[in-house]
Amino acid sequence: MNADLLIHSAAQLLTLAGPHPRRGEAMSDLGLIEDGAVAVREGCILAVGPTAEIRTEFAARQEIDASGKVVMPGFVDPHTHAVWAGDRADEFEMRLRGATYMEIMAAGGGIMSTVRATRAASLDELIAQSRRRLDVMLAHGTTTAEVKTGYGLDVENELKQLRAIYVLNQTHPMTLVPTFLGAHAVPAEYKGREDEYVDLVVEEMLPTIKSQVFCDVFCDEGAFTLEQSRRVLEAARALGCRLKIHADEFKSLGGTRLAVELGAISADHLVCTPPDEIELLARSDTIAVALPGTPFGLAYHEYTPARAIIAAGGALALATDLNPGTCWCESMPFIIALACRYMRLTPAEAIVAATINAACAVGLAHQVGNLEAGKQADIVILDLPGYQHLAYRFGPNPVQMVIKAGRRVV
Ligand code: NIG
Ligand code: FE
Repeated sequence: MNADLLIHSAAQLLTLAGPHPRRGEAMSDLGLIEDGAVAVREGCILAVGPTAEIRTEFAARQEIDASGKVVMPGFVDPHTHAVWAGDRADEFEMRLRGATYMEIMAAGGGIMSTVRATRAASLDELIAQSRRRLDVMLAHGTTTAEVKTGYGLDVENELKQLRAIYVLNQTHPMTLVPTFLGAHAVPAEYKGREDEYVDLVVEEMLPTIKSQVFCDVFCDEGAFTLEQSRRVLEAARALGCRLKIHADEFKSLGGTRLAVELGAISADHLVCTPPDEIELLARSDTIAVALPGTPFGLAYHEYTPARAIIAAGGALALATDLNPGTCWCESMPFIIALACRYMRLTPAEAIVAATINAACAVGLAHQVGNLEAGKQADIVILDLPGYQHLAYRFGPNPVQMVIKAGRRVV
């Protein structure tokens, strides 16, 4: 049988094939094939298996010898704020001198500082600045990413951010999944009139963007209360949006319980989630998305209790949280290195969390996140002799080649 592309002789082929989301013991199942091969046709996976078998079954116009390397699905990054303008390097230095993230935010900096820069940027500037980050993500093996709005915070600029995401999805090799995060912060002009801003989100923004996207809320101290978060998410659900939530990043307000109650596809951050809410989450279909780059970026010492989540039976995913305030990091390999050290994931668990479980967290597991016949051929080749090295080493980029829908893009 003819294939377009055959990648063969991989020291380790990680297929991640099988039921998902992965929980418990299954979080360690990489579907590893030694001396493995993948056959690709018309942008999709035809077959995976031992090189000897695949080579007798398929002939391809193009062959790639992956000997001594790891071949695996492209990373899925299920939580990013990749579309913004400007930077906050000055705030990073203020934090090093002792100011906290919440103090800077309360003084009008933080998210509002990026909102000002994003509002001032034209659509084209916003796209150009964001495209550079997507290029870095792709070079580090991310082939699918969720991207949130939340730096516009008025109808016009939230729509501008959504348009930037749509244009980038059409013109960049990565697949982008848009999330509306109008409830990311209360903009300065609504200070003291927080509920009026929630009215604007619910009555004007949501009906304008409708159901084409996920809807997320930053439910935390200094952002939105549990009641305000519930209003936004219930309104979004009524319009057909699928739900996400930023919960328990700084203070636990009950956001994880709300996510489970409303059937959210994911609850994200979960740094200070109380044990009873971890139990609820673990017994639900809501994916727990941990973002270890954020406490690392803030030089905090508290990380998502991933071991407790996995022990309770939860499905865990990993994401970068790429954003200009807490975590300017495009690299899923670096996030995996952090997750193993600070959240005590094994390398195999971290890889499951960064691929197939991450695909579940953006509702795309039928398409991406593992290497199974029929899935999109989103494949990365790592210049590493074994998958443990992906967590063991950190700093330099281990990604040697990226294939998106069967086409070599890096
Ligand atoms: O996920 N928590 C809210 N949003 C981001 C930070 C955004 C910013 O500071 O610009 C986060 O950490
Ligand atoms: Fe975030």
